[in-house]
Amino acid sequence: MTKGRHVTLQKEEGHAAREAPVINRFSRRASVCAESYNPDEEDDDTETRVIHPKTDDQRNRLQEACKDILLFKNVDQEQMSQVLDAMFEKLVKCGEHLIDQGDDGDNFYVIDRGTYDICVKSDGVGRCVGAYDNHGSFGELALMYNTPRAATIIATSVGAIWGLDRATFRRIIVRNNARKRRMYENFIESLPFLKSLEFSERLKVVDVIGTKIYGDGEQIIAQGDGAESFFIVESGEVRITMKRKQSKSDAEVKEAVEIARYSRGQYFGELALVTNKPRAASAYAVGNVKCLAMDVQAFERLLGPCMEIMKRNIANYEEQLVALFGTNMDITDPSA
Ligand code: CMP
Ligand code: CMP
Repeated sequence: MTKGRHVTLQKEEGHAAREAPVINRFSRRASVCAESYNPDEEDDDTETRVIHPKTDDQRNRLQEACKDILLFKNVDQEQMSQVLDAMFEKLVKCGEHLIDQGDDGDNFYVIDRGTYDICVKSDGVGRCVGAYDNHGSFGELALMYNTPRAATIIATSVGAIWGLDRATFRRIIVRNNARKRRMYENFIESLPFLKSLEFSERLKVVDVIGTKIYGDGEQIIAQGDGAESFFIVESGEVRITMKRKQSKSDAEVKEAVEIARYSRGQYFGELALVTNKPRAASAYAVGNVKCLAMDVQAFERLLGPCMEIMKRNIANYEEQLVALFGTNMDITDPSA
């Protein structure tokens, strides 16, 4: 694994203090799982900066890979530049295990390229529960909750990933999440469709969401696209429109028709994740819109108990489509 320069600096000094003496903070850590989850109490007045120098090409690729990572969405610019400085590139061979279930957590990873299987063993039986295809991130759970790795991640092609060390992840991302919890706890508590989750599971929902902001008229979801996220409206209004195909084989499409509007506390973008199909409709911001977004892996992991409620919605969608178009548009038929 790439070794970084570990540098101490006082909080207020910013980038100018990068050349301070080198110390290695990992040596002070006796056992990973003995650490408590109390991000506000960590690192009182000194911070450890990890810097892995990068070429322009690496920096550009890293920025592109991190642009849609939801865990980074609430991180301010200065902290984000510390995160980017600390990340290191790791080239991956096909078949390589990047994480093994049960291990201690060392790094968080963002995918640069390549495909990866997610395998979970329970009661001695391992099964593949999902996959990453050229983007996304993994390895946050063990670092956030001080738990053993919850899954095994295996490369199914050659690829490259960006690692972020545990100490930097906890100092910036976990601490930031504590702030996010304070901001969103009440809102998440008030959402009726999450009622079937345990309290601790609702807190985990707060940990994985990222805030996304859209201007008036901006497209949030495009009909026909692959689906990566699920959305909850925090403020503003979202318009859902659908274009109807003339027939299955006909590429010609009719004018988009508005089929729904969503406001604070309502969700959308769950259908494609539940049915494993492309997006059934498009979503646009009406005025300025703030959404909370969750990626597909977190959706599958955390919202299982809410799935029944979401599936019930499909019947409503179909009724609505029959009323509008005279057909249910095959929104759940995998062959359509
Ligand atoms: P972590 O437990 O640190 O290491 C394995 C990672 O796999 C985990 O963090 C998540 O980022 C990722 N993962 C994706 N899907 C799942 C899943 N269904 N269960 C557990 N971990 C998952
Ligand atoms: P998804 O298909 O992922 O992306 C478009 C979203 O529009 C869809 O999930 C639903 O959340 C939402 N939607 C609202 N009304 C309908 C409808 N009648 N049919 C399909 N999707 C709908």
